[in-house]
Amino acid sequence: MLKPNFKEAKKRTNEDIKVLRSEYAIPEDMKDFGLGKKYYIKTYGCQMNEHDSEMISAILEDMKYTNAKDYEDADLIILNTCAIRENAHNKTFGMLGRIKHLKQVKPGLMVGLAGCMSQEESVVNEIIDKYKWMDFVFGTHNIHKLPEVLKEHVKTNDLEVNVWSNEGNVIEGIPAKRDSKYKAWVNIMYGCDKFCTYCIVPYTRGKQRSRMPEDIISEVKDLINKGYKEVTLLGQNVNAYGKDFKDKKYNMENLLSDVAKTGIERVRFVTSHPWDFTDGMIDVIAKYDNICKYIHLPVQSGSSRILKLMGRRYTKESYLELYKKIRNKLGDNSSITTDIIVGFPGETKDDFEETLSLVEKCKYDSAFTFIYSPREGTPASKMIDNVSKEEKEQRLYKLNAVVNKYSKEANDKLVGKIVKVLLENVSEKDPKLLAGYTDTMKLVNVKADKKYIGKIVDVKITDAKTWSLDGEINE
Ligand code: 5AD
Ligand code: SF4
Repeated sequence: MLKPNFKEAKKRTNEDIKVLRSEYAIPEDMKDFGLGKKYYIKTYGCQMNEHDSEMISAILEDMKYTNAKDYEDADLIILNTCAIRENAHNKTFGMLGRIKHLKQVKPGLMVGLAGCMSQEESVVNEIIDKYKWMDFVFGTHNIHKLPEVLKEHVKTNDLEVNVWSNEGNVIEGIPAKRDSKYKAWVNIMYGCDKFCTYCIVPYTRGKQRSRMPEDIISEVKDLINKGYKEVTLLGQNVNAYGKDFKDKKYNMENLLSDVAKTGIERVRFVTSHPWDFTDGMIDVIAKYDNICKYIHLPVQSGSSRILKLMGRRYTKESYLELYKKIRNKLGDNSSITTDIIVGFPGETKDDFEETLSLVEKCKYDSAFTFIYSPREGTPASKMIDNVSKEEKEQRLYKLNAVVNKYSKEANDKLVGKIVKVLLENVSEKDPKLLAGYTDTMKLVNVKADKKYIGKIVDVKITDAKTWSLDGEINE
């Protein structure tokens, strides 16, 4: 049994990170393990987790498992979990309650926990104490070892816990079974060294490790050959890409240009920390037509006092300066979105008013808004939190009203305009419509024939709502 330990996970050593290209392999006796069996993966949380699930799927299919449409049809269920806020945590335990019943009527069913919650000491202890019926737990650093984890579980027929506290190396060559045929997630780095005081990610995802540029570029070229139209470069803090290279100077500016030069039709990247956003990066984004003019720039709070307590290392003023620089350079057709936390420990009414006034100034295209959720082991969880739950809920409500007003305004401006949309599939709203995104990440429902699926087309916007647009093909 290998349990996670937060004290270990917090450590940042100067040890060299190696790139391992032949670590992933299915042991001979596991190659047919999934023959005739079905798997189901339930994914919570961010894009990084979605992409991890694409890898877990491919690994299981390498063991001859096939995909089950529903968890009730599966022989193996994996919950790929998120630890960022309490509600993600509660959802997982709720789902485990349902699966327990299923396991009672289906004794051969195997159930495993993966993702960020697996990296939390307290969660793993709870699983060991109260969820003994589960089969295995593995973490974010050893996804490529899933076949060995399953093998060990079968050998002992006991709950197999195999979670590494430290990140280890960069593993290349893990396959991915991508959900979309047109747009793909591409990891460019793992982990985060920023240690914002509220955030659990630096503990669950480890030290920052950038992938080698040549590995990223060759993955993008391969995706182009397979017909992909769009890549999203993924990392917790993509602007810091390359800062961990010891032997070369190669940063996000260089990577963005090199990815743009591959000729892929669209390049996106998430998430940016305002701290590492350089002028050079803004220039590169402006220079290449295929780099989407869409920036997700989390501000978290509009109060410099709270930003300091959050450990964000910028002020309201320096954020606004950066914001203006980006808008000026990328033009009115660009789109900027953000993340905001309300009710951080000690946030006063005045601090909150500053957040509202910042949103009034930035007029974001949209924003993800959250109530602060204390995460065990983080510095903020030890700060005195004297804002009541009701007050926090009211602040969130007020903030959302302002955020939504500007989302609708930004969408209204597009009515009558012609925009490019990558049509991905049939609309969830209406099976007669197709749905897709503009390069500025706006959802559009389009009256169009199915033959347009997978194509980037000119769409005339006919109507705007708060969270989506309606349009028709402009021929
Ligand atoms: N509580 C609430 N929101 C959080 N986020 C990260 N940690 C917490 C937390 N403890 C939010 C931040 C981040 C987004 C991914 O989640 O806004 O940008
Ligand atoms: Fe968390 Fe801050 Fe790192 Fe983002 S930059 S993952 S909020 S520690």
